[in-house]
Amino acid sequence: MLKTATILVFIFTIFFSLSECQKNNVCKNIKDYLDIDNNTDCWYNPDVGASPEEIITRWGYPFETHNFTTEDGYINVLYRIPHDNTDTNITRQPILLHGGLGGGPLTFLYIGNRSLAFFLVDEGFDVWLSNRRGSLNGKVHRDYEKTDEQFWNFTFHECGFYDIKAEINLIADENTSHKKIILLGFSMGSTETYIYAMLRKKHANNHLAGIISISPIAFMTRSGGVIAKLAPFATLIESFLRKGNLHALALTEEGAKEDENFRLSFPKIVFSKSFLEFIVGKDSSQTEAADLPVYFRSKTTPTSIKTLIHFSQEVNAGGQFQYYDYGISKNLNLYKSIHPPPYNLSKIRVPVHLFYGEGDRLSSEQDVLKLYDSLTMKKKSLTCIPEDKSVRFNHADFTLARDIKELLYEVLLKTIREKLSG
Ligand SMILES: *[C@@H]1O[C@H](CO)[C@@H](O)[C@H](O)[C@H]1NC(C)=O
Ligand SMILES: *[C@@H]1O[C@H](CO)[C@@H](O)[C@H](O)[C@H]1NC(C)=O
Ligand SMILES: *[C@@H]1O[C@H](CO)[C@@H](O)[C@H](O)[C@H]1NC(C)=O
Ligand SMILES: *[C@@H]1O[C@H](CO)[C@@H](O)[C@H](O)[C@H]1NC(C)=O
Ligand SMILES: *[C@@H]1O[C@H](CO)[C@@H](O)[C@H](O)[C@H]1NC(C)=O
Ligand SMILES: *[C@@H]1O[C@H](CO)[C@@H](O)[C@H](O)[C@H]1NC(C)=O
Ligand SMILES: *[C@@H]1O[C@H](CO)[C@@H](O)[C@H](O)[C@H]1NC(C)=O
Repeated sequence: MLKTATILVFIFTIFFSLSECQKNNVCKNIKDYLDIDNNTDCWYNPDVGASPEEIITRWGYPFETHNFTTEDGYINVLYRIPHDNTDTNITRQPILLHGGLGGGPLTFLYIGNRSLAFFLVDEGFDVWLSNRRGSLNGKVHRDYEKTDEQFWNFTFHECGFYDIKAEINLIADENTSHKKIILLGFSMGSTETYIYAMLRKKHANNHLAGIISISPIAFMTRSGGVIAKLAPFATLIESFLRKGNLHALALTEEGAKEDENFRLSFPKIVFSKSFLEFIVGKDSSQTEAADLPVYFRSKTTPTSIKTLIHFSQEVNAGGQFQYYDYGISKNLNLYKSIHPPPYNLSKIRVPVHLFYGEGDRLSSEQDVLKLYDSLTMKKKSLTCIPEDKSVRFNHADFTLARDIKELLYEVLLKTIREKLSG
Protein backbone atom coordinates (compact mmCIF):
# COMPACT_ATOMS: atom_id res chain seq x y z
CA MET A 1 0.00 0.00 0.00
CA LEU A 2 2.77 2.36 1.03
CA LYS A 3 4.83 1.21 -1.91
CA THR A 4 2.04 1.92 -4.40
CA ALA A 5 1.55 5.34 -2.93
CA THR A 6 5.25 6.09 -3.21
CA ILE A 7 5.31 4.98 -6.82
CA LEU A 8 2.22 7.01 -7.57
CA VAL A 9 3.73 10.06 -5.97
CA PHE A 10 6.90 9.43 -7.95
CA ILE A 11 5.04 9.11 -11.25
CA PHE A 12 2.93 12.08 -10.41
CA THR A 13 6.00 14.16 -9.65
CA ILE A 14 7.74 13.18 -12.86
CA PHE A 15 4.63 13.78 -14.91
CA PHE A 16 4.03 17.09 -13.28
CA SER A 17 7.55 18.43 -13.49
CA LEU A 18 7.79 17.41 -17.12
CA SER A 19 4.52 18.99 -17.98
CA GLU A 20 5.50 22.16 -16.20
CA CYS A 21 8.76 22.60 -18.04
CA GLN A 22 7.47 21.55 -21.40
CA LYS A 23 4.01 23.02 -21.26
CA ASN A 24 2.94 24.73 -24.47
CA ASN A 25 3.74 28.41 -24.28
CA VAL A 26 3.29 29.68 -27.82
CA CYS A 27 0.54 29.29 -30.44
CA LYS A 28 0.19 29.87 -34.15
CA ASN A 29 -2.88 32.12 -33.89
CA ILE A 30 -4.17 34.41 -31.19
CA LYS A 31 -7.36 32.36 -30.78
CA ASP A 32 -5.33 29.19 -30.22
CA TYR A 33 -4.21 30.62 -26.87
CA LEU A 34 -7.75 29.92 -25.66
CA ASP A 35 -6.98 26.19 -25.34
CA ILE A 36 -3.22 26.31 -25.36
CA ASP A 37 -2.74 22.95 -23.60
CA ASN A 38 -4.68 20.77 -25.98
CA ASN A 39 -4.39 22.72 -29.22
CA THR A 40 -2.21 21.13 -31.89
CA ASP A 41 -1.27 24.60 -33.16
CA CYS A 42 0.46 25.35 -29.86
CA TRP A 43 3.90 24.19 -28.75
CA TYR A 44 6.70 24.73 -26.26
CA ASN A 45 9.36 27.32 -27.17
CA PRO A 46 12.36 27.24 -24.81
CA ASP A 47 13.42 30.74 -25.95
CA VAL A 48 10.55 32.26 -23.94
CA GLY A 49 12.23 33.89 -20.95
CA ALA A 50 15.68 32.59 -21.93
CA SER A 51 18.92 34.57 -21.71
CA PRO A 52 20.98 35.56 -24.78
CA GLU A 53 23.53 32.87 -23.92
CA GLU A 54 20.85 30.19 -23.70
CA ILE A 55 19.32 31.22 -27.01
CA ILE A 56 22.64 31.46 -28.86
CA THR A 57 23.94 28.10 -27.66
CA ARG A 58 20.57 26.43 -28.12
CA TRP A 59 20.61 27.36 -31.79
CA GLY A 60 24.08 25.85 -32.08
CA TYR A 61 26.27 28.93 -32.30
CA PRO A 62 29.46 29.59 -30.32
CA PHE A 63 29.07 32.15 -27.53
CA GLU A 64 31.84 34.28 -26.02
CA THR A 65 31.86 36.96 -23.34
CA HIS A 66 34.45 39.73 -23.17
CA ASN A 67 34.72 41.95 -20.09
CA PHE A 68 35.87 45.55 -20.15
CA THR A 69 35.83 48.62 -17.95
CA THR A 70 34.74 52.04 -19.19
CA GLU A 71 36.56 55.31 -18.48
CA ASP A 72 33.93 56.14 -15.87
CA GLY A 73 34.28 52.83 -14.06
CA TYR A 74 31.45 50.61 -15.34
CA ILE A 75 32.43 46.96 -15.61
CA ASN A 76 30.60 45.59 -18.59
CA VAL A 77 30.46 42.62 -20.94
CA LEU A 78 30.25 42.26 -24.69
CA TYR A 79 28.74 39.08 -26.09
CA ARG A 80 30.20 37.67 -29.25
CA ILE A 81 29.17 35.10 -31.85
CA PRO A 82 32.53 34.78 -33.60
CA HIS A 83 31.47 32.41 -36.37
CA ASP A 84 28.77 29.97 -37.41
CA ASN A 85 30.73 26.71 -36.90
CA THR A 86 30.57 25.82 -40.58
CA ASP A 87 33.09 28.27 -41.93
CA THR A 88 35.52 29.31 -39.23
CA ASN A 89 38.30 30.31 -41.61
CA ILE A 90 36.81 33.18 -43.56
CA THR A 91 37.87 36.73 -42.76
CA ARG A 92 34.97 38.24 -40.91
CA GLN A 93 34.08 41.90 -40.65
CA PRO A 94 33.14 42.87 -37.06
CA ILE A 95 29.66 44.25 -36.53
CA LEU A 96 28.60 45.68 -33.16
CA LEU A 97 24.87 45.61 -32.40
CA HIS A 98 23.20 48.03 -29.98
CA GLY A 99 19.65 47.03 -29.06
CA GLY A 100 16.67 49.02 -27.90
CA LEU A 101 15.65 50.31 -24.50
CA GLY A 102 14.99 47.31 -22.27
CA GLY A 103 15.87 44.86 -25.03
CA GLY A 104 19.66 44.85 -25.14
CA PRO A 105 21.17 41.85 -26.95
CA LEU A 106 17.79 40.10 -27.04
CA THR A 107 16.60 42.73 -29.53
CA PHE A 108 18.49 40.72 -32.15
CA LEU A 109 17.57 37.26 -30.79
CA TYR A 110 13.78 37.26 -30.28
CA ILE A 111 12.81 35.12 -33.22
CA GLY A 112 14.97 32.02 -33.09
CA ASN A 113 16.77 31.25 -36.30
CA ARG A 114 15.08 34.22 -38.04
CA SER A 115 16.97 36.60 -35.73
CA LEU A 116 19.30 39.28 -37.12
CA ALA A 117 22.31 38.17 -35.04
CA PHE A 118 22.19 34.69 -36.60
CA PHE A 119 21.55 36.03 -40.10
CA LEU A 120 24.68 38.20 -39.86
CA VAL A 121 26.86 35.36 -38.54
CA ASP A 122 25.60 33.10 -41.32
CA GLU A 123 26.47 35.84 -43.82
CA GLY A 124 30.06 35.85 -42.61
CA PHE A 125 30.18 38.60 -39.99
CA ASP A 126 31.86 38.56 -36.59
CA VAL A 127 28.88 39.56 -34.43
CA TRP A 128 29.24 41.51 -31.16
CA LEU A 129 26.27 42.29 -28.93
CA SER A 130 26.28 45.19 -26.49
CA ASN A 131 24.92 45.06 -22.96
CA ARG A 132 23.91 48.49 -21.80
CA ARG A 133 25.40 49.65 -18.47
CA GLY A 134 23.15 48.65 -15.60
CA SER A 135 21.77 45.62 -17.39
CA LEU A 136 23.99 42.94 -15.85
CA ASN A 137 24.15 41.53 -12.36
CA GLY A 138 27.14 41.27 -10.10
CA LYS A 139 29.81 43.84 -9.36
CA VAL A 140 29.31 46.18 -12.28
CA HIS A 141 31.00 49.38 -11.17
CA ARG A 142 34.46 50.05 -9.77
CA ASP A 143 33.15 52.31 -6.96
CA TYR A 144 29.37 52.10 -6.85
CA GLU A 145 26.81 49.47 -5.98
CA LYS A 146 23.65 49.06 -8.02
CA THR A 147 21.72 50.48 -5.06
CA ASP A 148 23.66 53.79 -5.24
CA GLU A 149 22.09 56.79 -6.87
CA GLN A 150 25.37 57.58 -8.63
CA PHE A 151 25.30 54.22 -10.37
CA TRP A 152 22.09 55.13 -12.23
CA ASN A 153 23.30 58.60 -13.17
CA PHE A 154 23.35 58.00 -16.92
CA THR A 155 21.26 58.20 -20.05
CA PHE A 156 21.86 57.22 -23.70
CA HIS A 157 24.41 60.05 -23.61
CA GLU A 158 26.85 58.17 -21.34
CA CYS A 159 26.07 54.85 -23.06
CA GLY A 160 27.21 56.44 -26.34
CA PHE A 161 30.06 58.48 -24.91
CA TYR A 162 31.71 55.86 -22.69
CA ASP A 163 30.37 52.40 -23.45
CA ILE A 164 30.68 52.43 -27.24
CA LYS A 165 34.24 53.76 -27.11
CA ALA A 166 35.27 50.99 -24.71
CA GLU A 167 33.46 48.34 -26.76
CA ILE A 168 35.13 49.48 -29.98
CA ASN A 169 38.55 49.41 -28.30
CA LEU A 170 37.90 45.86 -27.19
CA ILE A 171 36.84 44.74 -30.67
CA ALA A 172 39.77 46.56 -32.24
CA ASP A 173 42.12 44.66 -29.92
CA GLU A 174 40.66 41.44 -31.32
CA ASN A 175 40.91 42.81 -34.84
CA THR A 176 42.14 39.74 -36.60
CA SER A 177 40.35 40.52 -39.83
CA HIS A 178 41.96 43.94 -40.33
CA LYS A 179 38.59 45.27 -41.24
CA LYS A 180 36.82 48.31 -39.88
CA ILE A 181 33.84 47.87 -37.59
CA ILE A 182 30.20 48.36 -38.56
CA LEU A 183 28.12 49.91 -35.76
CA LEU A 184 24.43 49.00 -35.94
CA GLY A 185 21.81 50.51 -33.64
CA PHE A 186 18.12 49.82 -33.24
CA SER A 187 15.89 52.50 -31.68
CA MET A 188 17.69 53.98 -28.64
CA GLY A 189 20.69 51.93 -29.72
CA SER A 190 20.91 54.24 -32.73
CA THR A 191 20.72 57.34 -30.51
CA GLU A 192 23.81 56.08 -28.69
CA THR A 193 25.70 55.54 -31.93
CA TYR A 194 25.13 59.19 -32.91
CA ILE A 195 26.41 60.42 -29.52
CA TYR A 196 29.54 58.31 -29.96
CA ALA A 197 30.19 59.40 -33.53
CA MET A 198 29.65 63.11 -32.68
CA LEU A 199 31.58 63.31 -29.43
CA ARG A 200 34.29 60.75 -30.17
CA LYS A 201 34.75 61.88 -33.72
CA LYS A 202 38.39 60.94 -34.19
CA HIS A 203 37.94 57.55 -32.55
CA ALA A 204 34.94 56.85 -34.76
CA ASN A 205 36.74 57.95 -37.93
CA ASN A 206 39.63 55.62 -37.10
CA HIS A 207 37.62 52.55 -36.27
CA LEU A 208 34.25 52.60 -38.00
CA ALA A 209 33.32 51.56 -41.51
CA GLY A 210 29.99 53.25 -40.86
CA ILE A 211 26.73 53.33 -38.95
CA ILE A 212 23.53 51.43 -39.73
CA SER A 213 20.38 52.69 -38.00
CA ILE A 214 17.18 50.68 -37.78
CA SER A 215 14.17 52.66 -36.51
CA PRO A 216 16.46 55.64 -35.82
CA ILE A 217 15.74 57.93 -32.87
CA ALA A 218 17.15 61.45 -32.59
CA PHE A 219 14.48 64.13 -32.97
CA MET A 220 11.18 63.52 -31.19
CA THR A 221 8.79 65.99 -32.77
CA ARG A 222 6.29 63.32 -33.73
CA SER A 223 7.92 60.28 -32.23
CA GLY A 224 7.40 58.99 -28.76
CA GLY A 225 3.61 59.07 -28.85
CA VAL A 226 3.45 57.58 -25.40
CA ILE A 227 6.37 59.59 -24.05
CA ALA A 228 4.74 62.72 -25.44
CA LYS A 229 1.62 61.99 -23.43
CA LEU A 230 3.69 61.57 -20.28
CA ALA A 231 6.05 64.45 -21.01
CA PRO A 232 4.14 67.23 -19.20
CA PHE A 233 4.37 65.15 -16.05
CA ALA A 234 8.12 64.57 -16.23
CA THR A 235 9.04 66.73 -13.26
CA LEU A 236 6.25 65.28 -11.20
CA ILE A 237 7.26 61.73 -12.02
CA GLU A 238 10.87 62.56 -11.31
CA SER A 239 10.23 63.93 -7.83
CA PHE A 240 7.96 61.00 -7.12
CA LEU A 241 10.59 58.50 -8.18
CA ARG A 242 13.38 60.31 -6.37
CA LYS A 243 11.36 60.26 -3.17
CA GLY A 244 10.95 56.54 -3.48
CA ASN A 245 14.72 56.39 -3.97
CA LEU A 246 14.14 54.44 -7.13
CA HIS A 247 16.67 55.17 -9.82
CA ALA A 248 16.45 52.05 -11.88
CA LEU A 249 13.49 50.99 -13.87
CA ALA A 250 13.01 47.38 -14.76
CA LEU A 251 10.38 47.35 -17.45
CA THR A 252 9.26 43.94 -16.32
CA GLU A 253 10.50 41.93 -13.43
CA GLU A 254 13.91 40.34 -13.87
CA GLY A 255 14.29 36.59 -13.99
CA ALA A 256 11.24 35.69 -16.03
CA LYS A 257 12.64 32.20 -16.45
CA GLU A 258 12.21 31.31 -12.78
CA ASP A 259 8.51 31.61 -13.34
CA GLU A 260 8.31 28.28 -15.18
CA ASN A 261 4.58 28.18 -15.01
CA PHE A 262 4.17 31.52 -16.58
CA ARG A 263 2.18 31.62 -19.74
CA LEU A 264 0.28 34.30 -21.52
CA SER A 265 -3.37 33.52 -21.14
CA PHE A 266 -5.72 34.49 -23.93
CA PRO A 267 -6.88 37.76 -22.31
CA LYS A 268 -3.29 38.66 -21.43
CA ILE A 269 -2.06 38.11 -24.96
CA VAL A 270 -4.89 40.15 -26.43
CA PHE A 271 -4.25 42.95 -23.95
CA SER A 272 -0.46 42.86 -24.45
CA LYS A 273 -0.90 42.93 -28.21
CA SER A 274 -3.11 46.01 -28.16
CA PHE A 275 -0.88 47.73 -25.63
CA LEU A 276 2.09 46.99 -27.87
CA GLU A 277 0.32 48.47 -30.87
CA PHE A 278 -0.50 51.58 -28.87
CA ILE A 279 3.23 52.07 -28.29
CA VAL A 280 4.89 50.85 -31.47
CA GLY A 281 2.26 51.60 -34.10
CA LYS A 282 -0.64 49.79 -35.77
CA ASP A 283 -0.44 46.12 -36.58
CA SER A 284 1.02 45.78 -40.05
CA SER A 285 -0.08 42.14 -40.35
CA GLN A 286 3.59 41.13 -40.01
CA THR A 287 3.28 40.04 -36.37
CA GLU A 288 3.18 36.29 -35.66
CA ALA A 289 1.15 35.29 -32.62
CA ALA A 290 3.80 32.67 -31.84
CA ASP A 291 6.52 35.35 -31.49
CA LEU A 292 4.68 37.48 -28.95
CA PRO A 293 5.41 35.43 -25.79
CA VAL A 294 9.17 35.58 -26.45
CA TYR A 295 8.90 39.32 -26.92
CA PHE A 296 6.77 39.92 -23.85
CA ARG A 297 8.52 37.45 -21.60
CA SER A 298 12.11 38.09 -22.61
CA LYS A 299 14.30 39.20 -19.74
CA THR A 300 14.06 42.94 -20.17
CA THR A 301 17.09 44.82 -19.05
CA PRO A 302 16.71 47.55 -16.42
CA THR A 303 17.34 51.13 -17.38
CA SER A 304 17.82 54.38 -15.51
CA ILE A 305 14.95 56.71 -14.75
CA LYS A 306 17.24 59.47 -15.99
CA THR A 307 17.08 57.97 -19.50
CA LEU A 308 13.31 58.38 -19.59
CA ILE A 309 13.59 61.88 -18.16
CA HIS A 310 16.12 62.80 -20.86
CA PHE A 311 13.71 61.63 -23.57
CA SER A 312 10.78 63.47 -22.03
CA GLN A 313 12.84 66.67 -21.73
CA GLU A 314 13.48 66.45 -25.47
CA VAL A 315 9.80 65.93 -26.17
CA ASN A 316 8.96 68.91 -23.94
CA ALA A 317 11.50 71.04 -25.79
CA GLY A 318 9.58 70.51 -29.03
CA GLY A 319 11.38 67.35 -30.09
CA GLN A 320 14.94 68.74 -29.96
CA PHE A 321 17.83 66.28 -29.89
CA GLN A 322 19.66 67.87 -26.98
CA TYR A 323 21.88 67.39 -23.93
CA TYR A 324 20.38 66.57 -20.54
CA ASP A 325 18.77 69.53 -18.80
CA TYR A 326 20.24 69.88 -15.28
CA GLY A 327 18.57 73.21 -14.51
CA ILE A 328 19.95 76.70 -15.02
CA SER A 329 22.91 76.84 -12.65
CA LYS A 330 24.28 73.41 -13.46
CA ASN A 331 23.66 73.93 -17.17
CA LEU A 332 25.72 77.14 -16.99
CA ASN A 333 28.44 75.19 -15.30
CA LEU A 334 28.43 72.23 -17.69
CA TYR A 335 27.40 73.79 -20.99
CA LYS A 336 28.05 77.55 -20.50
CA SER A 337 24.42 78.23 -21.36
CA ILE A 338 21.20 78.22 -19.39
CA HIS A 339 19.52 75.83 -21.83
CA PRO A 340 20.97 72.45 -22.71
CA PRO A 341 22.57 72.77 -26.17
CA PRO A 342 21.32 70.73 -29.12
CA TYR A 343 23.54 67.88 -30.28
CA ASN A 344 25.39 68.86 -33.43
CA LEU A 345 24.77 66.04 -35.89
CA SER A 346 27.05 67.57 -38.54
CA LYS A 347 29.98 66.47 -36.39
CA ILE A 348 29.40 62.89 -37.57
CA ARG A 349 31.81 62.18 -40.44
CA VAL A 350 31.42 58.41 -40.88
CA PRO A 351 28.79 57.08 -43.32
CA VAL A 352 25.28 56.72 -41.86
CA HIS A 353 22.53 54.61 -43.42
CA LEU A 354 19.00 54.94 -42.07
CA PHE A 355 16.16 52.38 -42.31
CA TYR A 356 12.70 53.35 -41.10
CA GLY A 357 9.07 52.25 -41.35
CA GLU A 358 6.03 54.30 -42.29
CA GLY A 359 3.94 52.87 -39.46
CA ASP A 360 6.56 53.35 -36.72
CA ARG A 361 5.19 55.45 -33.89
CA LEU A 362 8.47 55.73 -31.95
CA SER A 363 10.61 56.58 -34.95
CA SER A 364 8.24 58.63 -37.09
CA GLU A 365 8.93 59.26 -40.75
CA GLN A 366 8.92 63.02 -40.22
CA ASP A 367 11.58 62.86 -37.51
CA VAL A 368 13.72 60.44 -39.49
CA LEU A 369 13.62 62.82 -42.48
CA LYS A 370 14.69 65.65 -40.18
CA LEU A 371 17.57 63.51 -38.91
CA TYR A 372 18.58 62.65 -42.47
CA ASP A 373 18.60 66.36 -43.42
CA SER A 374 20.76 67.19 -40.38
CA LEU A 375 23.47 64.72 -41.38
CA THR A 376 26.19 66.33 -43.48
CA MET A 377 28.63 63.50 -44.18
CA LYS A 378 29.32 62.63 -47.82
CA LYS A 379 27.98 59.09 -47.62
CA LYS A 380 24.50 58.71 -46.22
CA SER A 381 21.26 57.06 -47.30
CA LEU A 382 17.64 56.79 -46.29
CA THR A 383 15.53 53.70 -46.98
CA CYS A 384 11.91 52.99 -46.19
CA ILE A 385 11.26 49.38 -45.11
CA PRO A 386 9.79 47.54 -46.90
CA GLU A 387 11.13 49.19 -50.04
CA ASP A 388 7.96 48.46 -52.03
CA LYS A 389 5.87 49.96 -49.19
CA SER A 390 3.51 46.97 -49.37
CA VAL A 391 3.02 47.19 -45.58
CA ARG A 392 3.62 49.91 -43.02
CA PHE A 393 6.35 48.62 -40.66
CA ASN A 394 5.84 49.53 -37.00
CA HIS A 395 8.59 49.66 -34.38
CA ALA A 396 8.24 46.01 -33.40
CA ASP A 397 8.26 44.78 -37.01
CA PHE A 398 11.97 45.66 -37.19
CA THR A 399 12.71 42.89 -34.70
CA LEU A 400 9.75 40.52 -35.16
CA ALA A 401 8.27 40.68 -38.65
CA ARG A 402 7.25 37.43 -40.29
CA ASP A 403 9.07 38.26 -43.55
CA ILE A 404 11.90 40.12 -41.84
CA LYS A 405 14.62 38.39 -43.85
CA GLU A 406 13.30 39.44 -47.25
CA LEU A 407 11.93 42.82 -46.17
CA LEU A 408 14.75 44.03 -43.93
CA TYR A 409 17.84 41.83 -43.64
CA GLU A 410 18.43 41.45 -47.40
CA VAL A 411 18.21 45.22 -47.79
CA LEU A 412 20.63 45.83 -44.92
CA LEU A 413 23.04 43.28 -46.33
CA LYS A 414 22.98 44.92 -49.76
CA THR A 415 23.82 48.29 -48.19
CA ILE A 416 26.61 46.79 -46.09
CA ARG A 417 28.14 44.88 -49.00
CA GLU A 418 27.95 47.81 -51.41
CA LYS A 419 28.83 50.64 -49.06
CA LEU A 420 30.54 49.45 -45.87
CA SER A 421 32.60 46.39 -46.68
CA GLY A 422 36.37 46.19 -46.80
C1 LIG B 1 -6.75 19.09 -21.99
O1 LIG B 1 -6.59 17.72 -21.94
C2 LIG B 1 -6.44 17.17 -20.65
C3 LIG B 1 -6.18 15.69 -20.73
O2 LIG B 1 -5.59 15.34 -21.94
C4 LIG B 1 -7.68 17.46 -19.82
O3 LIG B 1 -7.51 16.99 -18.51
C5 LIG B 1 -7.94 18.93 -19.81
O4 LIG B 1 -9.16 19.20 -19.17
C6 LIG B 1 -7.98 19.50 -21.20
N1 LIG B 1 -8.05 20.95 -21.09
C7 LIG B 1 -8.90 21.65 -21.81
C8 LIG B 1 -8.86 23.12 -21.57
O5 LIG B 1 -9.65 21.17 -22.61
C1 LIG C 1 33.12 39.31 -16.29
O1 LIG C 1 31.97 39.94 -15.76
C2 LIG C 1 31.03 39.06 -15.23
C3 LIG C 1 29.80 39.85 -14.85
O2 LIG C 1 30.12 41.00 -14.13
C4 LIG C 1 31.63 38.33 -14.04
O3 LIG C 1 30.71 37.43 -13.51
C5 LIG C 1 32.89 37.59 -14.51
O4 LIG C 1 33.53 37.01 -13.41
C6 LIG C 1 33.85 38.53 -15.23
N1 LIG C 1 34.92 37.77 -15.80
C7 LIG C 1 36.18 38.19 -15.78
C8 LIG C 1 37.15 37.31 -16.47
O5 LIG C 1 36.50 39.23 -15.23
C1 LIG D 1 41.17 26.47 -41.90
O1 LIG D 1 42.52 26.86 -42.00
C2 LIG D 1 43.45 25.90 -41.49
C3 LIG D 1 44.85 26.47 -41.54
O2 LIG D 1 44.96 27.52 -42.44
C4 LIG D 1 43.33 24.62 -42.32
O3 LIG D 1 44.21 23.65 -41.82
C5 LIG D 1 41.90 24.12 -42.24
O4 LIG D 1 41.73 22.98 -43.09
C6 LIG D 1 40.90 25.20 -42.67
N1 LIG D 1 39.56 24.73 -42.43
C7 LIG D 1 38.57 24.83 -43.32
C8 LIG D 1 37.22 24.34 -42.88
O5 LIG D 1 38.73 25.33 -44.42
C1 LIG E 1 14.53 27.40 -38.46
O1 LIG E 1 14.36 26.22 -37.72
C2 LIG E 1 13.21 25.49 -38.07
C3 LIG E 1 13.13 24.29 -37.16
O2 LIG E 1 13.08 24.68 -35.83
C4 LIG E 1 13.28 25.10 -39.52
O3 LIG E 1 12.08 24.44 -39.88
C5 LIG E 1 13.47 26.30 -40.38
O4 LIG E 1 13.69 25.93 -41.72
C6 LIG E 1 14.65 27.11 -39.92
N1 LIG E 1 14.72 28.35 -40.67
C7 LIG E 1 15.86 28.87 -41.06
C8 LIG E 1 15.78 30.20 -41.75
O5 LIG E 1 16.92 28.34 -40.87
C1 LIG F 1 25.38 63.02 -12.37
O1 LIG F 1 26.20 63.41 -13.43
C2 LIG F 1 26.28 64.80 -13.62
C3 LIG F 1 27.03 65.07 -14.92
O2 LIG F 1 28.19 64.32 -15.03
C4 LIG F 1 26.92 65.43 -12.42
O3 LIG F 1 27.00 66.82 -12.59
C5 LIG F 1 26.04 65.11 -11.20
O4 LIG F 1 26.64 65.63 -10.04
C6 LIG F 1 25.87 63.62 -11.06
N1 LIG F 1 24.88 63.34 -10.02
C7 LIG F 1 25.05 62.38 -9.13
C8 LIG F 1 23.97 62.20 -8.15
O5 LIG F 1 26.05 61.71 -9.10
C1 LIG G 1 42.19 46.55 -38.00
O1 LIG G 1 43.55 46.55 -38.40
C2 LIG G 1 43.81 47.23 -39.63
C3 LIG G 1 45.29 47.19 -39.91
O2 LIG G 1 45.89 46.06 -39.37
C4 LIG G 1 43.36 48.68 -39.54
O3 LIG G 1 43.52 49.31 -40.77
C5 LIG G 1 41.89 48.72 -39.14
O4 LIG G 1 41.48 50.05 -38.94
C6 LIG G 1 41.68 47.96 -37.84
N1 LIG G 1 40.26 47.95 -37.53
C7 LIG G 1 39.81 48.36 -36.38
C8 LIG G 1 38.36 48.28 -36.23
O5 LIG G 1 40.54 48.77 -35.52
C1 LIG H 1 28.35 71.89 -35.85
O1 LIG H 1 29.51 71.20 -36.27
C2 LIG H 1 29.99 71.63 -37.54
C3 LIG H 1 31.13 70.68 -37.92
O2 LIG H 1 32.05 70.55 -36.88
C4 LIG H 1 30.41 73.08 -37.44
O3 LIG H 1 30.87 73.53 -38.70
C5 LIG H 1 29.20 73.92 -37.00
O4 LIG H 1 29.60 75.26 -36.79
C6 LIG H 1 28.62 73.37 -35.72
N1 LIG H 1 27.36 74.06 -35.46
C7 LIG H 1 27.10 74.60 -34.29
C8 LIG H 1 25.77 75.25 -34.17
O5 LIG H 1 27.89 74.55 -33.36
